[in-house]
Amino acid sequence: MVSKINKKILLAVSGGIAAYKTAELVRLLRKKNAEVRVVLTHAAAKFVTPLTFQALSGHAVATELLDTGQENAMGHINLARWADLLIVAPASANIIAKFSHGIADDLLSTLYLAAECPVYVAPAMNQAMWHKPATQDNIKRIQNHGVTLIGPDSGNQACGEQGFGRMSAPQEICNCLLTGNTSSLLQGKSILISAGPTREPLDPVRYITNRSSGKMGYALAEAAINQGASVTMISGPVSLTAPPKTSLIQVETAQQMYEEVLQRASLYDVYIGAAAVADYSPDIVKDEKIKKQADRTTLVLRKNKDILSAVAHLKQRPFTVGFAAETHELERYARGKLERKNLDMIAANWVGKESGGFEDDNNALQVFWRQGRQHFEMMNKKKLAEKLIELIAEKVDEKSTTKNP
Ligand code: C5P
Repeated sequence: MVSKINKKILLAVSGGIAAYKTAELVRLLRKKNAEVRVVLTHAAAKFVTPLTFQALSGHAVATELLDTGQENAMGHINLARWADLLIVAPASANIIAKFSHGIADDLLSTLYLAAECPVYVAPAMNQAMWHKPATQDNIKRIQNHGVTLIGPDSGNQACGEQGFGRMSAPQEICNCLLTGNTSSLLQGKSILISAGPTREPLDPVRYITNRSSGKMGYALAEAAINQGASVTMISGPVSLTAPPKTSLIQVETAQQMYEEVLQRASLYDVYIGAAAVADYSPDIVKDEKIKKQADRTTLVLRKNKDILSAVAHLKQRPFTVGFAAETHELERYARGKLERKNLDMIAANWVGKESGGFEDDNNALQVFWRQGRQHFEMMNKKKLAEKLIELIAEKVDEKSTTKNP
């Protein structure tokens, strides 16, 4: 619950269909006692009229840099000085590019250069535009310049496509601005998580599966969201509810999980394979219930594709994290998998008597990467997920700094 806060908020709207949602943001901010002044780019004014924002904010709306009338009311430098914070929502790829390169050719880009207050940016664009290296470079640059990112989220887009680039919900932006609570180790990063068991059918009523509650994968999704990431989870059948804001894709078999993961993995920054994927599936799935006859019977099984290894061997691969459940020689087997599957990191745990894991609420992990290791002692899976996500964020960051010094 956000308490009332007196803040002077300069709200800038750039061109995008999400501009209509920003009208609601003005209302939410004013309800919390904030004083809001609105700036529209010319493109934004094609989506929503200045009059809408004037009526909602109770102040004239600024659109022009070189207009004596508007500059007399409150010039761009005065507007920048007046604000306790500047929020740009929606922020288009174009305005982000201008901010990134210090271009000041209209009111908003000039205001941004003149602003000395904290700046928040809530991007909104088509998923392909969001993933373009040019946009990602610009995002990193403005973050390095001190801008705080809010979102974007993933989901259905106005253009009919699916993916990242949807503006965060106005309520969420409002909460971030008023509380300053933008845990941001993974801000702007997209994470794909596989979770839960898979089920491999034998016939219409029977299947083989692994013992897995999905608790670890679901806790990782929540921890990543709390650090500002956009999360998609490909989940086998579990009795858990996905954390709010997770984009959830439910599957049943290892093959379905393989297809759902592989078709999108290269678009993500991080892949965490936390699912207990069945290693083998029945070679033949009967259409009819298999009848009980002989005292002994044989099942012929066929090996499933290794999803984790396939992701880690993609040409354009995310930072890839696997899990390893071992009953003996934990480090040797875990490090073997790290190498063989081409992973960036592996989180290993003992399984067996009194060792947590599987359906337990607690777990302990030994995490290995090529140059190091970290031990997380037995603790609640939620806490453990937070620690692991912090470690992943640190290593992802190190990797991207080595790539782009
Ligand atoms: O080789 P092993 O099954 O022990 O490796 C465990 C890791 O590999 C886990 O991260 C699991 O999600 C992943 N895995 C997979 N596809 C499989 C089997 C395991 O992604 N078919």
